[in-house]
Amino acid sequence: MNKLKIGYEELKQMYLDFFKGHGHAVINSASLIPENDPTVLFTTAGMQPLVPYLLGAKHPAGDKLTDVQKCIRTGDIAEVGDRSHLTFFEMLGNWSLGSYFKKESISMSYEFLTQVFKIDPKNLAATIFIGEDGVPKDMETYETWKSLGFTDDQLFFYGKSENWWGPAGLTGPCGPDTEIFIIDQSKPKCSDECGPACNCGRYTEIWNNVFMEYNKNPDGTFSKLTQKNVDTGMGLERLFCTINGISDVYTTELFWGVIEHLEKVSGKKYEDDIITFRRIADHVRAATFILGDENGIAPSNTEQGYVLRRLIRSTIRNLKKIDITDFILPTLAEIVINQYKASYVELEKRRDFILNELQKEELLFNRTISVGLREINKVIEKLQKGDVIDSTTAFKLYDTYGFPLEFTEEIALEHGLKVDSKGFDALFAEHQEKSRKGAEKKFKGGLADSSEETTKLHTTTHILHKVLRDLLGDHVAQKGSNITAERLRFDFSFERKVTPEELAIVEERVNEVISRDLPVSMEEMSFEEAQKAGAIGLFANKYDIEKVKVYSIGDFSMEVCGGPHVEHTAEIGKFKILKEESSSAGVRRIKASVG
Ligand code: ALA
Repeated sequence: MNKLKIGYEELKQMYLDFFKGHGHAVINSASLIPENDPTVLFTTAGMQPLVPYLLGAKHPAGDKLTDVQKCIRTGDIAEVGDRSHLTFFEMLGNWSLGSYFKKESISMSYEFLTQVFKIDPKNLAATIFIGEDGVPKDMETYETWKSLGFTDDQLFFYGKSENWWGPAGLTGPCGPDTEIFIIDQSKPKCSDECGPACNCGRYTEIWNNVFMEYNKNPDGTFSKLTQKNVDTGMGLERLFCTINGISDVYTTELFWGVIEHLEKVSGKKYEDDIITFRRIADHVRAATFILGDENGIAPSNTEQGYVLRRLIRSTIRNLKKIDITDFILPTLAEIVINQYKASYVELEKRRDFILNELQKEELLFNRTISVGLREINKVIEKLQKGDVIDSTTAFKLYDTYGFPLEFTEEIALEHGLKVDSKGFDALFAEHQEKSRKGAEKKFKGGLADSSEETTKLHTTTHILHKVLRDLLGDHVAQKGSNITAERLRFDFSFERKVTPEELAIVEERVNEVISRDLPVSMEEMSFEEAQKAGAIGLFANKYDIEKVKVYSIGDFSMEVCGGPHVEHTAEIGKFKILKEESSSAGVRRIKASVG
């Protein structure tokens, strides 16, 4: 492992202290799962959780903020394996929410780099927005850099492709930026035009200061925001390497624990298969953070859960590549948790969930990966470089062996092949349509038998679902429900036995909600609206149903459901748990009655 001038934690602290010293409030990292923007799956930048405040809402901590934000960029997963691309990374950020603007922001960045890190100003360069699409050339930024002593050969003007940032999703705050680069003077200019926009390695971007004056609207137009904001972002891992003169982030304390363990178990050295070691180390870290997030996600076939599944499955394949077939994902995740738990307490809190989910996924996928790999190898053998793996094969690999499309593409790429992804999408859509029709039929039907007793039990199921989530955590989700005239049966994801003490609390809380005699109401809305409103329920396969029914029990619970329900909760009577047992791996079952 490399020796360091500045340690990782020390670096974070230096940054936060500096901005605190300049009047910024230090705030906590938000969740990796964005709360304000349905157009993105993960938080990709520090500004994302702050969008409402960039748009003008008052932040409780003030108008000058700083933090270290957990981020995931899924666009970069295919690039992982080189020196710098990471799926998960931490972003240092400082913000002005309608307070200071360009001059102060640039001056603070300059002071931090040259005074705190003692970087020689001659080794810095900056890019500036040249003006495009009705937004003028950014002369204020130019003048500011000049006043700090930058010469013209340290300053470069570019258009929107280089010097415009945002929005993070499809809409939202954005604006021109100035990016700060470190110049590697040992690398001469590669041509007369050599500058930060070329890839010759002379310039390394470390900081991006965005002047967020604009908002991109849903119709694609831009309007001025009510306030002028500054949003800056600096990738912590990259800064850490640059400051310490390290070219390979995997050889630092951030990844070395995992890599050393892989060396030990495989008997191979990092140098023997650098790309595979790096991919495992990167993916395990990202998967641990997604599972360990405060809004933690379990592997699934949709949205964030799908990305997570892809990361885990790709790791399992890469482990096989270095001849590791033992189940070591939980051990690798423990190394990550121990490394980061001081800064991210949620990892420690969710340790069991992280380890259990990884173990389950490893078990699940190990059953099919070998057969699937044999299948794809047979196809690959018959193909030549440049050929395309057909969509039927790709879909069978997905449907039967659990290979996410991107995973098959990864394998194809390694053999110089492509995958017919359009054909795959068509087969996938066809398959979705079939299951949608099935789900719709089942869903529209609601309860098959809706006697008075079953209706009461049905409403009780909603109350129970919410009470369980409140008590045991948001990762509790309904896995199944069956109601007869005598009892309800509710299956839900949860890792361990629910203790008798917990069951007593559940019983008491359900009865308490019943006795409040809350009104039950129903509203029809689009699936998206229901999700936005925070309704819970069995969402899978309901995405393309035009209208869903959402049942609310007072302000206690809101759930997507076909009904029917009682009108007032007091009609239900007394709730009693009859039994708690295991239903299948990771799924518990509660049977209960009312009356
Ligand atoms: N939001 C800006 C970025 O991610 C700072 O580069």
